[in-house]
Amino acid sequence: MKQIPVTKRASQIEYAIRDVVVPAAALEAQGHSIIKLNIGDPLAYPGLPTPNHMVEAYQKAIYDQKNGYSPAYGIEELRVAISENEHNKSNGGWNCEPNDVYICHGVTEALQIIFASYLDKGDEVLSPGPHYPPYMAYPQVFGGKTIEYKLDSENGWAIDIDDLRSKMNDRVKLLVLINPNNPTGNVITKTELDQIIDLVSQYENCTIISDEIYDRLNFNENHISTASRSKKVPIITLNGVSKVYYAPGWRIGYMAFHDPTHNSKEVRDGIERMLRSRICASTPAQYGYLAGLNGNDDWMSGYLEMIKERNEFCVKRINNIEGLSVERPQGAFYMFVKLVDPYWNANDKEFVLKLLNQKYVLAVHGSGFSKNYGKGHFRIVFLPKKEILNEAMNRIEEFLIESRH
Ligand SMILES: Cc1ncc(COP(=O)(O)O)c(C=O)c1O
Repeated sequence: MKQIPVTKRASQIEYAIRDVVVPAAALEAQGHSIIKLNIGDPLAYPGLPTPNHMVEAYQKAIYDQKNGYSPAYGIEELRVAISENEHNKSNGGWNCEPNDVYICHGVTEALQIIFASYLDKGDEVLSPGPHYPPYMAYPQVFGGKTIEYKLDSENGWAIDIDDLRSKMNDRVKLLVLINPNNPTGNVITKTELDQIIDLVSQYENCTIISDEIYDRLNFNENHISTASRSKKVPIITLNGVSKVYYAPGWRIGYMAFHDPTHNSKEVRDGIERMLRSRICASTPAQYGYLAGLNGNDDWMSGYLEMIKERNEFCVKRINNIEGLSVERPQGAFYMFVKLVDPYWNANDKEFVLKLLNQKYVLAVHGSGFSKNYGKGHFRIVFLPKKEILNEAMNRIEEFLIESRH
């Protein structure tokens, strides 16, 4: 039967994090139980539930019949709470007004709307390599092109500023910062941010996207909001309920505009048109996020302590396994582990698939986060309990011993 053709833009999309789930599901169907270290969803790991006061607020909104469409840019109370949160960042906030905030169905929807509004054919997006996959997958859907700049694997995955500088030009419409970074856990320093902003200020067409979805999953309390450092360059801050508030299934995130020279009015008009045309984000879920932002957040430090302990545990274990090494993450909940053995270094996907098939541990191949800068690595999520992490490390070590080249 002749097939209905698929567009190039759709058939090119890859999402490595979920692609490895297919062979894992086949093994599960045969009765094997898998230790899953692949997905950045805290709810997938027991012990990190969405806080009760948020769940109750979401439930109450439903019972109170707040089930209708809401304003396209988000409910006013939530836009106010987010703007206050951006103002009051612990290491320095910025002058964010409620009208600067647009609520979306997660950062992921915000990205699609941003790329649709900024990119024309031939435009470029500079994204860190390695990066969260949609930064590679989406721009091409809108005629743009992603170019990766290098994160330095020998220097805690810090941004290689010289490499970034060499890739800047007038076609670059958007420069992406992911801070803390997925998949490396790097946190950008104040000096680095200032250098980057200074560099971008020389290119009047360029806006910085600052993806800060892991902002409070920061182990050394040194996370700095990019918008707080910019006096001239427009910054779009991205954040939401998924990671720091432990409710990724609610699909609520936001973009917030810092536009110090007011040169983004036209593009914001485009963004507002797109937002109106897709009606609104989930109304009751916005009330759940609102309760998180306005409620007491003492609970968050307990969660963070647990995650920090697991981070330390995994760094020690991994760096004691022959054939592996890892830079200590400073934020988020991922580790990007280097495969030192030359064979595995050149075949990271094969490593991940064989580890899955032989030891029932699921990780994600590094080349899924960047063919160039991610190959030779694999990513794990260090959210499971220590006993499970320990068992996973034992199995990874056994696998490396049994398959030494
Ligand atoms: C850097 C980064 N940005 C955005 C997202 C997704 O955000 P959301 O759930 O708000 O769509 C993720 C999820 O893993 C991420 O790692």
